[in-house]
Amino acid sequence: MESTVAKFGGLNIVVNCAGIVHVGSLHDYSSDDWDQLMGVNVKGIFFALKHAFPHLRKNDRSYMVNVGSISSHVGQRSTPAYTTSKGAVLSLTQSIALDYAAIGLRCNCVSPGITDTPMLRQHLNTTPDPDETLRQRVRRVPMNRAMQPDEIARSILYLSCEDSAGVNGTSIVVDGGYLAAAEWDTADDLSE
Ligand SMILES: NC(=O)c1ccc[n+]([C@@H]2O[C@H](COP(=O)([O-])OP(=O)(O)OC[C@H]3O[C@@H](n4cnc5c(N)ncnc54)[C@H](O)[C@@H]3O)[C@@H](O)[C@H]2O)c1
Repeated sequence: MESTVAKFGGLNIVVNCAGIVHVGSLHDYSSDDWDQLMGVNVKGIFFALKHAFPHLRKNDRSYMVNVGSISSHVGQRSTPAYTTSKGAVLSLTQSIALDYAAIGLRCNCVSPGITDTPMLRQHLNTTPDPDETLRQRVRRVPMNRAMQPDEIARSILYLSCEDSAGVNGTSIVVDGGYLAAAEWDTADDLSE
């Protein structure tokens, strides 16, 4: 925080994007696995707010955007700590929005769906045929593709400026329609 303020002369926008995932069954987790994931995904936001606050309060308007996930809204198999942490990201977003609106801070969440990043690739590479696994996964997505990082970034940008004036304590889901679908396979037959 201090080096950012020294470099830019102030702090108006905080984006909490850092996150890790741990794949496994809850009964196999160690206490350290749990604490490490919660430490990065949830406590990291607490620390960011705590140390940004003295700088943010100097502005008339400031912005915090937390990166949640579709698993802020629904469960996901074999990632119990991750889904719990992402539920907490949304709750914490709401708490911060309520408690800090008085200093001009708006706090919102962006909830990405399947997004083509190193995290996704690392996960896919644990399967025998990563490309085929991705093809199968995106059949659950009405847009039939993974999201691109810049599509997530543009929603973060929207929530980090006055284009989104009035939006506070909520989540924008950027998932290609994933959460809108009850079906497991949403492959579109109109194009055939
Ligand atoms: N890729 C997806 O499909 C997807 C879906 C939903 C949500 N997300 C969320 O998007 C965010 C970004 O994930 P990504 O897909 O780009 O993953 P990624 O692994 O490609 O990037 C994660 C980033 O977090 C940083 N990071 C991890 N631990 C850190 C720590 N202790 N301190 C500081 N930085 C740390 C890493 O250096 C890395 O730059 C995460 O919060 C993730 O949960 C990703």
